Amino acid sequence: MSIPLVDLRTQYAGIKPEIDAAVLKVLETGAFALGPAVAEFEKKFAPYCGVKFAAGTSSGTSALHLALRALDIGPGDEVIVPAMTFVATAAAVAYSGAKPVFVDVDNTCTMDAAKVEAAITPRTKAILPVHLYGQCADMDPILAIAEKHGIPVVEDCAQAHGAEYKGRRAGSMGSVGCFSFYPGKNLGAYGEGGAVVTNREEIDKMVRVLRDWGCTQRYHHDYLGYNYRLEGVQGAVLGVKMGYIEKWTEARRRAAACYRAKLTGVPGVGLVEIAPDCEPVWHIFAVFVANRDQVVEKMHADGIGVGIHYPIPVHMQKCFAELGYKPGDFPVAERIGKEELSLPIYPEITEAQMDSVVESLKKAIA
Ligand SMILES: Cc1ncc(COP(=O)(O)O)c(C=O)c1O
Repeated sequence: MSIPLVDLRTQYAGIKPEIDAAVLKVLETGAFALGPAVAEFEKKFAPYCGVKFAAGTSSGTSALHLALRALDIGPGDEVIVPAMTFVATAAAVAYSGAKPVFVDVDNTCTMDAAKVEAAITPRTKAILPVHLYGQCADMDPILAIAEKHGIPVVEDCAQAHGAEYKGRRAGSMGSVGCFSFYPGKNLGAYGEGGAVVTNREEIDKMVRVLRDWGCTQRYHHDYLGYNYRLEGVQGAVLGVKMGYIEKWTEARRRAAACYRAKLTGVPGVGLVEIAPDCEPVWHIFAVFVANRDQVVEKMHADGIGVGIHYPIPVHMQKCFAELGYKPGDFPVAERIGKEELSLPIYPEITEAQMDSVVESLKKAIA
């Protein structure tokens, strides 16, 4: 049985008439960059996240860059980020001109709150936790440190649409939350997309100005802005998908519970620690195995679309070599880099498919 890591075609087949009609409407009205479909989506996405404002952007990376710019973070500043995340988190900090300062993650694979205080310097201007794999970072201690030092928290929610921490949703806890709608994300566009969410009106206003060339009125560029607008077609697709996201999240949670029941206690397979006060949305179902690269090869040979998130922690990426980090600096992130294996997960995955994945995994590690 061939099982993909992510199955976007089955999802589209289930919502095709609605998507096609919404996209056609954009084509007919001609509002391709921002426009009514984007505005309608923003109106649905803000309450879903439990915030007042949502602004669509061209990607999750641009959402992060805009959030940092709106908080006036730039050259000479430092932003604390976890060493295990997708490169975009740290890249956005570098785009703003600030310096990413890495801290290790813990067994939940999110920022280790106990390591944050030691990384703070007089130049620290924000803390940027990542809700990796769909589980929220331990936000309360992170928010407390930020408050003590009078700095904002920017949440990277690219993998955590609808995830909850003590009943609060991803994106609603810090000063600002940044989402990606890359096609494979839990809420995915049919192209690139992202959003910045916040309760602070001045941040929302600035993000809206900066995403559209820094324009305060037509051809008046008061700020050096960007072409970071969400496309109308993507707004239409996302607007339709908002009607399904809660149902899809529940299906992912059922799939994850099923995997965890099948894998708990299997020798040689480690699972991500789930904090008791977290309700993850399972963007990625990660396990830990020795000889991971061989396991990947064997499972691929069985037709199982496994992935790795991520083989090289960000502090070890060549593009950040000048920051001077070295192997051993962040042992948990480095262990995840060596052992993490992502199993196929999507709302439509069946128990029979999960049985095949688990069987292939057990065979590969035997
Ligand atoms: C944790 C994290 N941050 C940021 C991003 C960047 O999002 P995008 O690819 O939409 O720019 C991603 C997406 O892959 C991500 O997983």
